[in-house]
Amino acid sequence: MKVLVTGGLGYIGSHTVVELLEHNYEVIILDNLYNSRIETLSKIKEITGKNASFYNIDATDFDSLNELFKNEEISSIIHFAGYKAVGESVNFPLKYYSNNLISTINLAKLAIKYNVIKLIFSSSATVYGDGESPFTEIMPILERTNPYGETKAICERILIDTYTANKNLSVTLLRYFNPVGAHESGLIGEVPNGIPNNLMPYITQVAKGIREKLLIYGNDYETVDGTGVRDYIHVVDLAKGHLSALKSNKGGINIYNLGTGKGTSVLELVKTFMNVNNVNIPYEFVDRRPGDIAISYADVTKAKEELNWESKLSIEKMVEDVWRFENQ
Ligand code: WQD
Repeated sequence: MKVLVTGGLGYIGSHTVVELLEHNYEVIILDNLYNSRIETLSKIKEITGKNASFYNIDATDFDSLNELFKNEEISSIIHFAGYKAVGESVNFPLKYYSNNLISTINLAKLAIKYNVIKLIFSSSATVYGDGESPFTEIMPILERTNPYGETKAICERILIDTYTANKNLSVTLLRYFNPVGAHESGLIGEVPNGIPNNLMPYITQVAKGIREKLLIYGNDYETVDGTGVRDYIHVVDLAKGHLSALKSNKGGINIYNLGTGKGTSVLELVKTFMNVNNVNIPYEFVDRRPGDIAISYADVTKAKEELNWESKLSIEKMVEDVWRFENQ
């Protein structure tokens, strides 16, 4: 009964591997190190005192994946591996479509071939497009504004159709809101590539003096203070959500939002970061960022009722853990 975790050395993947090992699952990590580091493997060992097997395989390489499935008895898959930079996806759409779709198709094919019981997919709140919060799982999927988001919506569709034709494979689609934070040990966390697009890694780089100031995209939204509102969720809570999804014996297709159900504005997050960590974050208001919506937060009722999971960690804890990781 082994769990294959693709992208298991990445940001969310590594935190999930920690939770799985701590709950005595046998874990196989697959990662091509495109946006992750091999050192994370030893950090995972340091945190848990346990080993996961590791394969440096690209999930788009069907033959190598097939060998892996042939040799290991995999009962579940958690599929994190994928490209995730929104801006880059606009400039290189084919890179995103081919990587994110082919890896998912390969895993779905092999899941059927090798009688895998459950496939859990890393989806995103981005599939709700510019709909109205709180987002519930039954809301229609709206048009995405970038190819990255589109790959998430298409992969959801691919997996739903795969289940419809192969009812022995149950499929769970987890729609993440805004993952932030790091492991309490300070050993693993988010390591962005290049100039960060996302708010939290940008804040930490400004706090460290790597960047001069934070540009806040818009202060004229209809929100508490005019800045954009998002549902930030601690990555450890998010990782635990995967554990609950894995344990659940509800078969079929299941879709869950993983968020806190609470919105926090950009300014609120920045101020909390400054207060909790006692650092200054110079900022300036600039125009809205194209494609952004004013408010995004989750309705988390379904995950609570069906998975018995809910987020526990506060915004204060998120910013504290990020800063500890940055200063290791
Ligand atoms: C949060 C808020 C910005 C940067 C994106 C993707 C989504 C998912 C997560 C994952 C917004 C504001 C940001 C900055 C700012 N992708 N902001 N200055 O846009 O909710 O979601 O990341 O892999 O698919 O779309 O997250 O962190 O970019 O922005 O003012 O320098 O911070 O306008 O209100 P977003 P974000």
